[in-house]
Amino acid sequence: MENGEERIRELRTLLEHHNRKYYIDNAPEISDAEFDRLMKELEQLEADFPGLYDPNSPTQRVGQDINREFTQVAHTYPMLSLGNTYSEAELREFDTRVWKTAGEVQYVCELKYDGTSISLTYRDGALIRAVTRGDGVKGDDVTENVRTIRTIPLRLHGDYPAEFEIRGEILMPFSVFDRLNREKAAAGEPLFANPRNAAAGTLKLQNSAQVARRSLDCYLYYIPGEAAPADTHFGNLKKAAEWGLRVSPHTELCNTVEEVLRFIAKWDRDRAGLPVPIDGIVIKVNDLEKQHLLGYTAKSPRWAIAYKFKAEREATRLIEVTYQVGRTGSITPVANLEPVHLAGTVIKRASLHNADVIAELDLHEQDIVYVEKGGEIIPKIVGVDASLRRAGAEPVRFITHCPECGTELVREEGEANHYCPNAEHCPPQIAGKIEHFVSRKALNIEGMGSETIDLLLNRGLIGNVADIYALPQKRDELMGLDRWQERSVANLLAGIEKSKQATFPAFLFGLGIRYIGETASRNLARSFRSIRSLMAATYEQLTEVEDIGGQMAGSVLNYFAKAENQELVERLLAYGLPGELKEEEAGAGKFNGLTFVITGTLSRPREYFKDLILREGGKVSDSVSAKTSFLLAGESAGSKLKKAEKLKINVINEEEWREMINNR
Ligand code: IVH
Repeated sequence: MENGEERIRELRTLLEHHNRKYYIDNAPEISDAEFDRLMKELEQLEADFPGLYDPNSPTQRVGQDINREFTQVAHTYPMLSLGNTYSEAELREFDTRVWKTAGEVQYVCELKYDGTSISLTYRDGALIRAVTRGDGVKGDDVTENVRTIRTIPLRLHGDYPAEFEIRGEILMPFSVFDRLNREKAAAGEPLFANPRNAAAGTLKLQNSAQVARRSLDCYLYYIPGEAAPADTHFGNLKKAAEWGLRVSPHTELCNTVEEVLRFIAKWDRDRAGLPVPIDGIVIKVNDLEKQHLLGYTAKSPRWAIAYKFKAEREATRLIEVTYQVGRTGSITPVANLEPVHLAGTVIKRASLHNADVIAELDLHEQDIVYVEKGGEIIPKIVGVDASLRRAGAEPVRFITHCPECGTELVREEGEANHYCPNAEHCPPQIAGKIEHFVSRKALNIEGMGSETIDLLLNRGLIGNVADIYALPQKRDELMGLDRWQERSVANLLAGIEKSKQATFPAFLFGLGIRYIGETASRNLARSFRSIRSLMAATYEQLTEVEDIGGQMAGSVLNYFAKAENQELVERLLAYGLPGELKEEEAGAGKFNGLTFVITGTLSRPREYFKDLILREGGKVSDSVSAKTSFLLAGESAGSKLKKAEKLKINVINEEEWREMINNR
C-alpha cells in the first residue's frame, strides 16, 4: 500500500507537469508514447487502490458519464457583459470618459475570444468548480465537463491564493469545428452554425467522455474580487500564468488610445491566422484602484470596453424559402442558402422574420443575396443583387396556408407575423406547447426533452399538456418504448409528480397564452390569486393589472373563451396542478408595493440590486417621481439625489438597503 500510494502521487505530479509542458507551454519534454505509458500505469494503480481516488487526478481528464441535469450555482460576483462599440470615435469617447474620472491611465489590450464564458474556482490550488455564465447571477455547474479540457489545469503551483475565482472563455478551435461538422454532415446530422455555439453546446453535453473528444480550448482573462494578488490587471494575469493557468500570449499594455488602435488594426488583419475565433479586442483599465473609481453601469464595468470587428459580408444564392411554425402558431420564413463561409462560420440559413422583410428586400427566387453576421447568432440577409437576377425569376410570395396542417393563415391588423390559427391540432404547435409547458421556467419537468415529447406524441401517448399527468397510468406502454428502461420511466414519472409542486405563476406561464410571458404571468397571478378568478376576469379588470396592456388582456380573454382551453385547465387542476397563489408566494415579497430608483456607484453592479428587489416583489424605475418609495443612492449620486431630496423621498444607502432586505 505504502509504495502504491507514493507512486500514485509521484505519477500524478509528473503527469500534471507534462500536461502543462505540452498544452500550456507548448514545449513537451517526453514523447506521446511515454506520456501514455505513465498514464496507463497511473490508471492501473488507481484501479488497484480505489481508496486513493481523486477527482483532480490527471486520469479523470478522459471523462465519464454523468446522467443528471446540471446544478445551478449562484455567482459570488455577478458575471457581467461588456459595453460594445464598432467605431473608433466611440472608443475615443470611452478613453475621454475614463481620463476624466481616473486621470492618466494605462490600458491592457486583449483578444476578445468568441466562445462561451466560464468561471473557475480554485481552492488550495485544486480546481473545485466551473460554472457557466447562465443569466449572470447564477449558472450551470459544468465542473465534470470542464475537467476534460486539457488547457485548464486541475492543480496549480506557486504562490496562488487559498481560494479564488478566475474567468475566461471556453472555445472550440476551428480545426475541431471543421472536423465535427464533417462528421455530422456524413452522419446526416444538423451542423453547428459556428464554433461559439459548438463550444457552448459541447460544454452542456451530458457525457463528459464525449466532451473530452471534442478538444475544447480555454483562455482565462479576469480575476474578480479580493483574492486578486496584484494591484494591476496585467499583474494579475502574469500571476495567473505563473500558477500554471492559461492566459492569452497576445496581451499588451498601451499608454495611449493611438496604441490601442494600432493593436486593434493589427488583430483585425491577423486574426485569420489564429487557431480559435475572436470577434474583437477588449480594452481594460490596468490599475485596479482606478477600475474601482470608474465603477459599473447597470450591466457592465465602466473600466472596460469591447471593440468588435465589423461583421463580414458575403454573397450567396437563395435556394428556397421554407416556413417554420412556432409554438404559438407564428410563421417564420427561413432563407435556405447555398453554404457560405462567413467569419469562421458556415452559413446555410438565415431568418427572414416576416412577410414585410421579404417584401422590403424584394426577394426573388434564386436571388444572389448578401449575408452578414451582425451581433446576433442568426445571420441576416442585408440585401439582394438584383443585377444578377435570373430572367423570369418570380418574386418570393408568402404562403397562404400552414405548411404543417394546411389551415389558412391569418394576419391580424397591425401585426407583422402570420399565424396558423389551428392551435389545438397543428402538430408543431402541439409539440411546441408541450415543450414550453415542461420548460425550466414553467413546470420544469425533468426528463422530458423535445425528443421524448415527439416520441410520446407519435405513439399517441400524449396529445396535450394534461395528458402528461395521465402517463403514470400508462407505465406499461412507456416501458415498451424503444430503449426505455425502468430507470428512465421512473425518472420521467418522478419529474411529472414533482411538477405538481410548481407555483401558480409558473403554471400560468406554462399554459403558453400568447403575449403572456413570465412577468405578465407573475403580475396576473399576484392580482387574481387563482386561475378561477382569472378565468372570470373582464377586460377592464385585466388591464388594471400592472403592465398588462390591451393586447395581453385580449389574448387572455381569447384563451379562456375557448371550450378546449377551459376543459384543459379543469383537467390540469383535477390532476393537482397549482390553481392558486400560495400564501407565502403572495406575501413573502419584502418589497411588495415599493418602487426603488437606483443611482450612484455601489459596491456591485446595479443589475444585482435590481434582481434582488424584483425577487422580493418590488419595482425598479429609472427616474425619480412622486411614486418612488426609496432612492438607493451610492457614491457620487447626482441629479436623481437632488430630485429625491426636493420631492422628500426616502434616500437610503447600500447598508440601509441591506438591512431592509434582511430584516423586514
Ligand atoms: S472581460 C467584467 N476579457 O466577452 C469584465 N471578456 O461581451 C468581464 N470575452 O462575457 C469580461 N474575451 O465572455 C473579458 N479578454 C476578454 C474577453 C471577454 C472574450 C467575452 C466574455 C464576456 C463577453 C462580454
